[in-house]
Amino acid sequence: LSYSEEELYRPNFHFTPKKAWMNDPNGMFFYNGYYHLYFQYHPESNVWGPMHWGHAISTDMITWTELPIAIYPDELGTIFSGSAVVDISNSSGFGEVSNAIPIVAMYTSSKQLEGTDNWKQTQSIAYSNDEGRTFTKYENNPAIDNNEIKDFRDPKVTWDEEREKWVMVLAAGDRIMFYDSKDLKKWNLLSDFGQGIGGHGGVWECPDLFKLPVLGTEESKWVLFVSINPGGPNGGSATQYFIGDFDGTTFTMDKDFETALNKEHNYWIDFGRDNYAGVSWSNATRRDGSKLMLGWMSNWDYAQVVPTETWRSAMTIARKVQLQKNNNGYRLLINPVEELTNYRSTKYKKENIVIKEDTKIIDSGAIDLASAEIQFNIPNLKETIYTFKLSNKLGDELLFGYDNIKKKFFINRKNSGKTSFSEKFANKISTASRTSTNKNLSGTIILDKTSIELFFDNGETVMTEIFFPNSPLDKLSIEPKDQEFILGKIEINKLNF
Ligand code: FRU
Repeated sequence: LSYSEEELYRPNFHFTPKKAWMNDPNGMFFYNGYYHLYFQYHPESNVWGPMHWGHAISTDMITWTELPIAIYPDELGTIFSGSAVVDISNSSGFGEVSNAIPIVAMYTSSKQLEGTDNWKQTQSIAYSNDEGRTFTKYENNPAIDNNEIKDFRDPKVTWDEEREKWVMVLAAGDRIMFYDSKDLKKWNLLSDFGQGIGGHGGVWECPDLFKLPVLGTEESKWVLFVSINPGGPNGGSATQYFIGDFDGTTFTMDKDFETALNKEHNYWIDFGRDNYAGVSWSNATRRDGSKLMLGWMSNWDYAQVVPTETWRSAMTIARKVQLQKNNNGYRLLINPVEELTNYRSTKYKKENIVIKEDTKIIDSGAIDLASAEIQFNIPNLKETIYTFKLSNKLGDELLFGYDNIKKKFFINRKNSGKTSFSEKFANKISTASRTSTNKNLSGTIILDKTSIELFFDNGETVMTEIFFPNSPLDKLSIEPKDQEFILGKIEINKLNF
């Protein structure tokens, strides 16, 4: 049996560049029917190097068309991560044609200082008058100069409706700096956030700031995303979040949130090892106030050595972000965007299955498990371990599920196929504490050839991981630990693209 790299590892429906290295999503905005996704891109190689902004568009955040590179390095440096906004009122004056609406991108220019390992990182602007296809660099770049701070990057610009101004968050070492502007060109430093707060196991990167309604209430809160590398809950790169208020100058954590955070930091948008640097789409707030986002589906611990040669890395599925408040306080709910359900085709559905020993759910071929969306429900949880197993005839297996003795979700990819390319790839079982106290467990599982995305308890806990089997994982079974149990419902939808 032999497969080409394309057949075995090119995802069916997660975005990958046709060739070469990709990391963070950048400059995501929605305009005129298209979701734009730019990305950290090194077109010359399959490892990280001088960064460009690659570009792709989609009408639904699921099926992507890759377009030519949008932003190239210049004398100020290579093009690191950043954001883009739709400047509807032409506040920047970059709109060239009468009634044209410019797209304004802000990114980090990163320049290695000769003969050193240090980088000069400044913030630059580029604008587009053709809906994000091509960009012109602003003549007065850098818009924000810097000679002191070593890591000073990843500007995320957002429109503050209440105060009618642009607000930007920027990562500086292990702090977030807040700025504002009327014209997207001149920026004023307002405040900083982060001292002694949250995870500090590594450098802070790729922040995001946005407001979310609290589900079922009239209240709104501000959410601050901060990616950190290393220092994630299961090692390497991960994205934490903070809930609070922003008064136009300062971000202040909600008091109860702060207390809960200090007790146990389990405020991560994803507990799997492969969702990093995710931020929200600009100009794409849903009618119900929810935000849309995706992340880079890899981890700096091993991203550069995963076993694909033609391209490296994929993005996560696009996700909807909401905020709930219950007895446990505030918590984000993150779930796949509804657009994914438009791709459902063949359905397998079963109810009230008694799970004893190793119960097969799907055997080879019945439904393609490399392109599937699964919903399940387990009523009346017992003190036991619920293990799902994806496997193939070669003996590769990916285990995941819920341990209701330890109250932890888990993913175990130790024997999932190729793992020896990096010691850090399979060296531990990722876990996440369950926050819900519901006695039923429900979840959504998104499966592609090389990725699993788990959304438990309506999105209270998310886990995303990649894997590289030696042949497709085409069998799904469920095992009890020491006592049989009832699987209330399982519904498997094959996704067609
Ligand atoms: C995050 C990051 C950013 C930086 C970019 C460089 O993964 O390190 O902080 O802008 O990647 O490619």
